Amino acid sequence: MRIAIIGAGAAGLTALRHSLDHGHSCDVFEKTGSIGGTWNYTDKTGKDEFGLPIHSSMYEGLSTNLPKELMQFEDFPHKKPEHSYISQTEVLNYINEYAEAFNLLQFIKFYHHVEKVIPSNDKRWNLELTDLKTRENIKNEYDAVFVCVGNYSVPSVPKLEGITSFQGSVIHSHDYRNPKSYKNKTVLIIGSGPSGIDIAKLVSSVADKTILSHRSELHPSWKISEEIAIKPEVRQFKPRSVIFHDASEEEIDDVIFCTGYKYSYPFLSPECGIEVENNWVKYLYKHVINIEHPTMAFIGVPFRIFPFPIFGIQVRFFLSYLDGNISITKEEMMEEVMEYMKRKQQLGIPLHQTHLLGLFQGEYMEDIADTAKIKRVPPVYVKMYKHVHSSGRRKGDIYKIISDDDFIQITV
Ligand SMILES: Cc1cc2nc3c(=O)[nH]c(=O)nc-3n(C[C@H](O)[C@H](O)[C@H](O)COP(=O)(O)OP(=O)(O)OC[C@H]3O[C@@H](n4cnc5c(N)ncnc54)[C@H](O)[C@@H]3O)c2cc1C
Ligand SMILES: *[C@@H]1O[C@H](CO)[C@@H](O)[C@H](O)[C@H]1NC(C)=O
Ligand SMILES: *[C@@H]1O[C@H](CO)[C@@H](O)[C@H](O)[C@H]1NC(C)=O
Ligand SMILES: *[C@@H]1O[C@H](CO)[C@@H](O)[C@H](O)[C@H]1NC(C)=O
Ligand SMILES: *[C@@H]1O[C@H](CO)[C@@H](O)[C@H](O)[C@H]1NC(C)=O
Repeated sequence: MRIAIIGAGAAGLTALRHSLDHGHSCDVFEKTGSIGGTWNYTDKTGKDEFGLPIHSSMYEGLSTNLPKELMQFEDFPHKKPEHSYISQTEVLNYINEYAEAFNLLQFIKFYHHVEKVIPSNDKRWNLELTDLKTRENIKNEYDAVFVCVGNYSVPSVPKLEGITSFQGSVIHSHDYRNPKSYKNKTVLIIGSGPSGIDIAKLVSSVADKTILSHRSELHPSWKISEEIAIKPEVRQFKPRSVIFHDASEEEIDDVIFCTGYKYSYPFLSPECGIEVENNWVKYLYKHVINIEHPTMAFIGVPFRIFPFPIFGIQVRFFLSYLDGNISITKEEMMEEVMEYMKRKQQLGIPLHQTHLLGLFQGEYMEDIADTAKIKRVPPVYVKMYKHVHSSGRRKGDIYKIISDDDFIQITV
């Protein structure tokens, strides 16, 4: 088959490697000039040289929130370094080594922006793209499409009362790069996910005062330093201060929203049949296959996961479907989604967490492997993830995979 892959981040490269393995002919379209997606740090924010939004959300001083052993492409273990929590540059190097090892670069068309994807009458796909360097418009036809554009680029910012009258600077973590401008300031960080906590620590090293406002329970393993003041949700902004739900008020200079991202696929024409409702991408069979047009797959939609291994199994799952190895009708796919949504609802899980897998990702990976009759992901990943989840991230920790079932952990 002729396959188009949109995006050359970790997910797109995984899709490329396995599609080639199964004998497909592939084109990868990447709007920037390099591979690695969000791991390609840039200090730029806003728009790029072509007027497109900057993709990467990385910031200075970022190290991984998962041990590198959980950030492994299939059959491609990290060679170096020894420690497990690695820098953004080290992740990018690893991604580059992967691309080299499997000779992937020759299939990637850089500076090619996919503008539109439209299903054609004969069950194929029309792609319209722009060569950003020459401004040429290109049209191509494919049998199948992998959407691998990440989910990290479109900031989600809650509408809080009074925010427009607030006089200090307000940014989203997508545009945060380093703490320089927060020297001696009082900074409010909203959101206690991994980026909120991480950025609060970085900012507190230069700020006069750092306040972290959060809605959900803080994970017990997060060790918040004493320099960070913890506050409940924001009730209201005033021009120079903020009032929290416990009625306390603090004067603040600047705000950083670490409130996550929205799924966004602006290039999909309405005929593709994909809609995003409150961060639920519908309708996808097992978070991957577009039920309306099942020759389109989305890689990397689930969150609170260990992305790299999940990308691998999702890609192989879809390739198996394309090979005709999963016999299922659209109606049956839809029934399963409805069943899944009903269960989520019974458990009281809000719609915007439809794609949250967390501790269920082990079950999920086994389910899609078995459905597609493909090799499972070794159980050691889930085991290690649970360990990291309960013991927390300690920078010096070294994890080593010793078999498909087991790992060892050394605390230094
Ligand atoms: C701050 C931060 C910290 C993170 N920390 C970790 C961590 O510690 N461990 C971990 O495993 N994961 C982490 N992640 C998750 C990370 O996103 C995944 O590891 C992984 O890199 C996602 O890969 P991807 O290929 O899905 O998306 P991306 O890396 O976002 O790649 C998508 C690619 O698609 C391209 N693209 C988008 N739209 C178009 C278009 N229309 N046409 C052409 N090209 C397009 C983009 O330019 C980009 O290159 C972190 C993410 C962020 C933002
Ligand atoms: C990141 O991307 C930019 C522009 O696409 C490129 O010039 C740069 O070399 C990349 N950085 C790394 C470390 O590869
Ligand atoms: C920040 O505060 C310290 C100590 O109060 C002071 O010495 C320093 O000059 C201040 N820096 C700026 C940039 O205002
Ligand atoms: C995207 O995935 C990450 C984890 O991989 C998650 O933290 C983030 O919330 C997800 N984005 C959305 C829109 O849910
Ligand atoms: C589909 O099944 C055939 C026959 O068992 C196998 O050779 C092929 O590799 C499978 N395809 C995928 C993508 O797993």
